Amino acid sequence: MTQELTSPSPARQAPGPGRGPGWWRDAVIYQVYVRSFADSDGDGIGDLQGVRSRLPYLKELGVDAVWLTPFYASPQADGGYDVADYRAVDPLFGRLQDADELIRAAHETGLRVIVDIVPNHTSDQHPWFQDPELARQRYIFRPGKGDSGQLPPNDWESIFGGPAWTRTGRGDWYLHLFAPEQPDLDWENPDVHAEFTAILRFWLDLGVDGFRIDVAHGMVKAAGLPDIGHGRQATLIGSQHLPFFDQDGVHAIHRAWRTLLDGYDGARIGVAEAWAPTPERLALYVRPDELHQAFNFQFLGTGWRADGLREVIDASLAATASVGAPTTWVLSNHDVVRHTTRLGGGLARARAATLLMLALPGSAYLYQGEELGLPEVTDLPDEVRQDPAFFRGAASAGPAPDGTADAGGQDGMRDGCRVPLPWAGDRPPYGFGPGGSWLPQPADWGALSVAAQTGDPDSTLELYRTALALRRTLPGLGDGPMNWRPAPDGVLTFARPGVLCTVNTLPDPVEIPLPGRPLLSSAPVATEDGSALLPGDSCTWWAI
Ligand code: BGC
Repeated sequence: MTQELTSPSPARQAPGPGRGPGWWRDAVIYQVYVRSFADSDGDGIGDLQGVRSRLPYLKELGVDAVWLTPFYASPQADGGYDVADYRAVDPLFGRLQDADELIRAAHETGLRVIVDIVPNHTSDQHPWFQDPELARQRYIFRPGKGDSGQLPPNDWESIFGGPAWTRTGRGDWYLHLFAPEQPDLDWENPDVHAEFTAILRFWLDLGVDGFRIDVAHGMVKAAGLPDIGHGRQATLIGSQHLPFFDQDGVHAIHRAWRTLLDGYDGARIGVAEAWAPTPERLALYVRPDELHQAFNFQFLGTGWRADGLREVIDASLAATASVGAPTTWVLSNHDVVRHTTRLGGGLARARAATLLMLALPGSAYLYQGEELGLPEVTDLPDEVRQDPAFFRGAASAGPAPDGTADAGGQDGMRDGCRVPLPWAGDRPPYGFGPGGSWLPQPADWGALSVAAQTGDPDSTLELYRTALALRRTLPGLGDGPMNWRPAPDGVLTFARPGVLCTVNTLPDPVEIPLPGRPLLSSAPVATEDGSALLPGDSCTWWAI
């Protein structure tokens, strides 16, 4: 059901905006979770025209690019990460024409566009899976164990809970690392490679500036699909190799995709969503002939402790430097508890963490709504929840190595970070759209809306705007050197060219010798007689 563009293809657009071939090395990229960003047609679900209408907001915020979560034709068993047609837009989100117009409008606004690609699995409604013969060639089917094949082929568990295998009417079993509606593709089949090459070309021809590669560490499974050992998966996940994650074989796929990306003009990029066990393993995804970026989930998973943060920052920078890549920082996304809630220190700590992240060398991803200081919504009634992990009972311990669970949320599930954005007004849906919103918004979100925060110098939105504007004007922020400076316990101090960053991770104020002229602070900082009083849970940028 490939959709056609209704006007002559504007595809093969000029390359997107940006600051040169290495634009991604220090880019700030804003994640749009399409169904929760802005709704143009009143069905309570965000859509592509809604995103387009808010491009001026993103431009004013000061980001370089947007990453759009999947908007492809999908039964929505997992928020669109179950794709039935990779070349069509789901009617919930619009038409292919809307995607085309959005990409073009973003480029005219000066924003690059990254789309999500989901290569580990398709929807069970994908035509390949619907055809029993094709399915057995292109997905991972195995006979069961036990006298009559009644037991799953191995002991792997779904990331969303329960066995990773489902038995078919024919008696064999298929693998799904996520929901049963998301069968895993068999990347040993060359047809799978060829199809994804064609899909990437389709979107590159339409003008996208790159891809966020979903489960980039999962496409290749260990030969023979070996058992993990009863009950061991939960303790191993995130810390060690599992037979279905971070197998060496995935790198050949990423290398081939890099060659494909390099064949296009305009520095198109690939960013890996890879939950690798160590910074060194993660760095393998960003070797010079592989992808450009890989989300630093080790940083995301580190609590608000000075020593832990310093350790993970050092390890990440060293690992990426060893392959000549920048580090890609992230604090929130659609799979984890929002950092306002997760870090345990409310807005003060979240604002400080963001300023810390934006002072580090490299690129940074922002998740929609964090610029408003939105907290996780932790009291959603069960009847409105839609996360498949909730229905399959995934473990709720955190922080999440796989993105499905984390401390501080509602049972560790993911709906609480996906509540639609408040744009204006004092009542739901707060300008999200002309109808309602697919998840209920809290009654007190009026004060957090874009309209309420705009122009208020103390607001989180203005803090983000100022920080991003400074990043553009201060030549040393972004890609470049960083040096730690001595600091009292609980405080981190590091120098970037022309800027010093101080972070007080303690709840109480700490006095330090005056480091310079304050440029921007997450909380009011007092300076007097050659000293500065850093408020508890704060971060300050100083001109030096
Ligand atoms: C995405 C999730 C999704 C999963 C399966 C993840 O990494 O970010 O939202 O549920 O992949 O596609």
